Amino acid sequence: MVGSGGREHALVWKLLQSPRIQEVFCIPGNGGTAQLDRCRNIAMGVSDFEGIARLALVNNIGLIVVGPEVPLAEGITDYLQQQQLMVFGPTQAGAQVESSKAWAKALMQEAKIPTAKAAAFTDVDLAIAYVKAQGAPIVIKADGLAAGKGVTVATTVEEAIAALEASFGGLFGAAGQQVVIEEYLEGQEVSILAVTDGLTIRPLLPAQDHKQIGEGDTGSNTGGMGAYAPTPIVSSALMEQIQVEILEPAIATLRARGIDYRGVLYAGLMITPQGEPKVIEFNSRFGDPETQVILPLLETPLEEVLLACTQQRLEELAPLAWKAEAAACVVIASGGYPEAYKKGHPIQGIDQAEATGAIVFHAGTKLKQEQLVSDGGRVLAVTALGSTFEAAIAHAYKAVERIQFADLYYRKDIGHRVLGSEAS
Ligand code: AMP
Ligand code: GLY
Repeated sequence: MVGSGGREHALVWKLLQSPRIQEVFCIPGNGGTAQLDRCRNIAMGVSDFEGIARLALVNNIGLIVVGPEVPLAEGITDYLQQQQLMVFGPTQAGAQVESSKAWAKALMQEAKIPTAKAAAFTDVDLAIAYVKAQGAPIVIKADGLAAGKGVTVATTVEEAIAALEASFGGLFGAAGQQVVIEEYLEGQEVSILAVTDGLTIRPLLPAQDHKQIGEGDTGSNTGGMGAYAPTPIVSSALMEQIQVEILEPAIATLRARGIDYRGVLYAGLMITPQGEPKVIEFNSRFGDPETQVILPLLETPLEEVLLACTQQRLEELAPLAWKAEAAACVVIASGGYPEAYKKGHPIQGIDQAEATGAIVFHAGTKLKQEQLVSDGGRVLAVTALGSTFEAAIAHAYKAVERIQFADLYYRKDIGHRVLGSEAS
């Protein structure tokens, strides 16, 4: 397992439920994976391809799962495949669905996938002229990877111009020297994570996350402050439409470009007020914290799904089996996140939280002389299941309240969109 976040902890947790998995090595893992039986953290960077290949070859590793987008965009899959290793995650060419928004937009246009109208620019003056002609609201996106900070939803032309000047001025380095300017879409966002072997593509349960730091979905964007699944916004008819209009054309067009995409294709969608799904972005990996609500609901052994993708036999796999429950996840962050925050605070109460039956996934933690301490912006992701969203959310918060560390922060309104709909 390559990565160190809550998503990777959830993937390892799920894999280890299968007796077929002898052992998992986490590169570099976190304080949560360090405490799992049959799991070993290896202090190695996610971009150390040579080190990862050597470790995998020496230990006869059957499957390498890549969590984050950065090593995928850097070509980890290509490198490891050249060493005859099995990798779940797209090649560098495939990872462009996420690493270049202009490339992804061109792919969507070629595949006739519904998405916001957009244009790409490498020249700041042409970009400003385009914004002035279009007017606001309008969305400005740095082309490359910007750790989730490259998008500005501008409500005025001035704000859009400021975002363009910041991007071309070097705020995101090379990632911001091209921008995509996009029509503003209204609606509800949903996350459709789909697994694919390059030929067949199958969606996992539909999820929604809460990107913003503040209650009522206000304030700065974060990596994600909570999530829930399966969201009732996506009916089975809508899921079928997403499959036919978005997922299948994406894979077919990737294939037509010579890209054999094996991994997760994550479609971030806006469901418009008319009920139409439109793609906001593609990601080349599992979502975080969506994974922390999707995997606890999955009944099919995860390694069967991942191996079917890497061995290109997903079509033969039986339909995925799911628990008929709701799952909710609340992220506990360090005070100050997504801006400056402190690390190294001792964490208490995880056992008490887990005693409620909730699952505590670690995101930014580490063991320091046997003491668990905070080690990132998002620190923990607490997931609970229930027969209704109301029950799952209440359970997750009951567990969250048992956890303490200095200056912790979490949103108190995770799932507010579904709670309203369920009350009737
Ligand atoms: P992205 O990194 O492309 O997912 O964008 C980050 C966030 O910006 C998304 O999750 C949306 O909340 C918002 N966003 C991106 N594109 C649009 C759009 N075309 N219309 C409205 N909001 C958008
Ligand atoms: N939760 C959003 C993401 O993983 O990109």
